[in-house]
Amino acid sequence: MINRKNPFKFDREVDGSYFCGREDAISDTEDYIVNQTNMIMFSKRRIGKSSLIKEVFNNRLDKGILTAHVDIYAISNIRELYEYLKEGIECSLLGKESSLDKLSKLTQTLNDFFVNSDIKLIVSGSPKIEISSTEKDYYKSLQQLFYGYFAFLKANNLQAIIAIDEFQKIVSLKDSEKVEALLRTIVNKRENCSFIFTGSKRNLLLSLFNKSDRPFFKLGTEYPLNPIDMLEFFKWTESRFKVKNVILEKDAFEYLYDISDGETRFIQLVSYKLFRTQEDSSIITLAIMAKYVNSIIKSKKDFGMYLETFTTAQQNTLKVIAVSGGVNLFDEKVLIRYDIKTSSLQSAIKSLMEKGIVFKSDDYVQFEDIEFKLWLKFL
Ligand SMILES: Nc1ncnc2c1ncn2[C@@H]1O[C@H](COP(=O)(O)OP(=O)(O)OP(=O)(O)O)[C@@H](O)[C@H]1O
Ligand SMILES: [Mg+2]
Repeated sequence: MINRKNPFKFDREVDGSYFCGREDAISDTEDYIVNQTNMIMFSKRRIGKSSLIKEVFNNRLDKGILTAHVDIYAISNIRELYEYLKEGIECSLLGKESSLDKLSKLTQTLNDFFVNSDIKLIVSGSPKIEISSTEKDYYKSLQQLFYGYFAFLKANNLQAIIAIDEFQKIVSLKDSEKVEALLRTIVNKRENCSFIFTGSKRNLLLSLFNKSDRPFFKLGTEYPLNPIDMLEFFKWTESRFKVKNVILEKDAFEYLYDISDGETRFIQLVSYKLFRTQEDSSIITLAIMAKYVNSIIKSKKDFGMYLETFTTAQQNTLKVIAVSGGVNLFDEKVLIRYDIKTSSLQSAIKSLMEKGIVFKSDDYVQFEDIEFKLWLKFL
């Protein structure tokens, strides 16, 4: 067997040749950035928010625009928020510059703009700009960090874009209201800079921005990111299988797309595995695809134990949602078939939503974890 480079990636954010489609979203994002309009981008998980940002930042923007992409999923306090944002700003200042001479001059210049801070160029290994603040209060150091950054941008006629990924995380911080208020002040005072706030908890994210009593009220344009268009995704995937002379039939891809609710990661996972295992010059038919998806899901051993962690009513509800596709859940036939009452179905859905296992989108209920849904469906 020849080992060829697999054209699909499923386990990390992608850009360049691994990135499919989304030309409209790319152009919208570029337009908002150029016009310094803040964006609030949301979608369900694993659809491709972070990858879209990566593609735009790395390959589409004017090289003169400074970019920082900060994922705050792992933070648990204001100090960590500060550290993460500081690192993002340090990287954006460094940009792609590698000349030590230029970086050294830049570091000197930066020292004029950041209050209570010492800016150093670290040259062991790959060069790094380091901002160390003497300020002990992290709220103040966060403010000084951004004000210094904005002043530097303005004085040098530069523009920057900062993406804060998993932004809803700030709601869970201690003193979150104080953090929200501070960030609002910073975002309001921005100069030569704009922000992209992204998140997968749609309601949480929008509640930050849309309630008039919340500090983030109307601070950006809402931008829902939908699954990649089916046809576009099919053509892109089909063309990549041609490297191996493998023919991907359209109904096979359509099946994969539908069954996974268009989740980009799962589609890429299946394509990756299929690319590895399909014989050269073979055909991927609907039957082969269905069998393949089934075998991937059946090989997941942990879901059995996971299911046991739910109450009986919740387990039944999970099965009902998985099998019915989350529509017409309260249909009499469904209730009789699963021997479940409307009221217990209702309360189980509520508790499963609170646990973040399922969520409501339009008028149907979907799983956060598509593999868990399919595992239940194939039981
Ligand atoms: N445009 C794309 N083309 C091809 N693959 C993509 C694309 N966007 C995303 N993917 C694939 O889907 C996976 C999930 O994408 P990504 O991490 O960007 O989504 P996300 O919406 O940020 O997810 P999360 O909510 O979990 O942070 C990636 O690891 C990548 O394999
Ligand atoms: Mg992400």
